[in-house]
Amino acid sequence: MPAVAPRILVLDSGLGGLTVLAELMRLRPDADIVYAADDAAFPYGALAPDAMVARCLLVAERLLAVHRPDLVVVACNTMATLVLPHLRRRFDLPFVGTVPAIKPAASASRTRRFTVLATPGTVERDYTRGLIEAYAGDCRVDLVGSRVLAGYAEAELAGLPVPDEALSAAIAPCFVDRDGARTDVVVLACTHYPLLRARMEGLAPWPVAWIDPAPAIARRAAELAGPATRASDGDRLAVFTGGTGLGPALRAALAARGLPHAVVLPVPFSRD
Ligand code: DGL
Repeated sequence: MPAVAPRILVLDSGLGGLTVLAELMRLRPDADIVYAADDAAFPYGALAPDAMVARCLLVAERLLAVHRPDLVVVACNTMATLVLPHLRRRFDLPFVGTVPAIKPAASASRTRRFTVLATPGTVERDYTRGLIEAYAGDCRVDLVGSRVLAGYAEAELAGLPVPDEALSAAIAPCFVDRDGARTDVVVLACTHYPLLRARMEGLAPWPVAWIDPAPAIARRAAELAGPATRASDGDRLAVFTGGTGLGPALRAALAARGLPHAVVLPVPFSRD
């Protein structure tokens, strides 16, 4: 009897996880994939840690009850660096998470100075600082927490790209030339940022290596999903917890990225 196709849930606060989804669909076309965006609570980068944990557990509970995945990919650094242990404790299924690619950056940097570009939440995490201590002790690491870039990536996909000046200003702190060491690597430690990568490369004051962990995360998830099951493509569905931005431009962008169907599973969120 042919093996049953795996059902994978890919989770982010918004559209950033699409960068992981693209790699995953390439590696596992056979898998049934639900892409979930907790857009009602976007951006996660601005949430206090306790609120993040509570919110992510609630959203995961709803999504798992409705979609019953075999595997969950937390395609969000802000969530994974804090909530992964809570998710693993609460739910009995495998979780794969994306965390800042500090180890590969330390291996790649020749100047021994690199930047971690992430949300304010991710740069403050003990987890992130622990990775720097463990793998980049001999490097100067500049942590840049952006309050705007994830929103810029969302705007880009919704057909409303921000002007070059705004994007240049947002990435300017990533480029440091001080004490004889110039940044030569920038870690894209938020899954939204690779959506802006081509534009950021064009606006960078000097060339650097940009590190996107999406391929590595997708490889790990593809492995955990077991052997390939069929020649035909699996089902794909996008789920939004708010859905306010789900207009024609965004639906077209989703369809172009392999998600022709998008639905709303309301999980209201209040910021106070
Ligand atoms: N895409 C998310 C990440 O990888 C976060 C964006 C946000 O909601 O602030 O960190």
